[in-house]
Amino acid sequence: MTDHEDTRERVADVCRRLAACGLVNAEAGNVSVRVGGEVVVTATNARFVELTADQVCVVDLAGYRLSGDLEPTSELALHLGIYRKFGTSAVVHTHAPMATAVGLVVEELPCVHYYMLKLGGSVRVAPYSTWGTSELADSVLTALDGRSAALMANHGAVTHARSLDAAVEQALLLEWACTLYHRAASMGTPRSLDEVQQQAVVTAALARMNNAPAPTSGETS
Ligand code: 13P
Repeated sequence: MTDHEDTRERVADVCRRLAACGLVNAEAGNVSVRVGGEVVVTATNARFVELTADQVCVVDLAGYRLSGDLEPTSELALHLGIYRKFGTSAVVHTHAPMATAVGLVVEELPCVHYYMLKLGGSVRVAPYSTWGTSELADSVLTALDGRSAALMANHGAVTHARSLDAAVEQALLLEWACTLYHRAASMGTPRSLDEVQQQAVVTAALARMNNAPAPTSGETS
């Protein structure tokens, strides 16, 4: 076990970035990254705008605190549940304004743009439960089935990914998709992509990946 100093710094950087992007307000939200069997996670009540590495703790996958002076986030069960269920490596929970607003009025954010396939397509809204409860964690885990993002009714949003940067990108993409949906819905009924259109995007993306020319010497990916 180490105290993961570099990773705690990276988590703190990400939190300040999320605050600068307007995705979190005050001490709302939490972030974690899994390093092997250990999880580096924000402390409860940490203010994102000024969050520092000493406000980031280390726990094991059972939630036992290994280092850090502060209590881990009240949503630890949600973070650990995501790692256990999806085997992923980073989780970002925000109270992003547009994602939260959309989650107040729809049961599911339809797949209105092909970029949403990076999130798994349409984004489900997990039913409301009190913050920090196992009921909330369970309903969000269900909403995340086959997806890397979920909205949380009357609460916020969560994304997960294989890296911390990717989980943040997913959170930004989700907020962008919610903003797009909101703008379209204010003008009429947004058209969504049907299953066939979505599958064609996945097929095109896979074909492009498989046909991508090998990097020439000296080129980095
Ligand atoms: P923590 O400060 O305990 O992380 O809780 C904030 C939050 O967003 C609860 O859902």
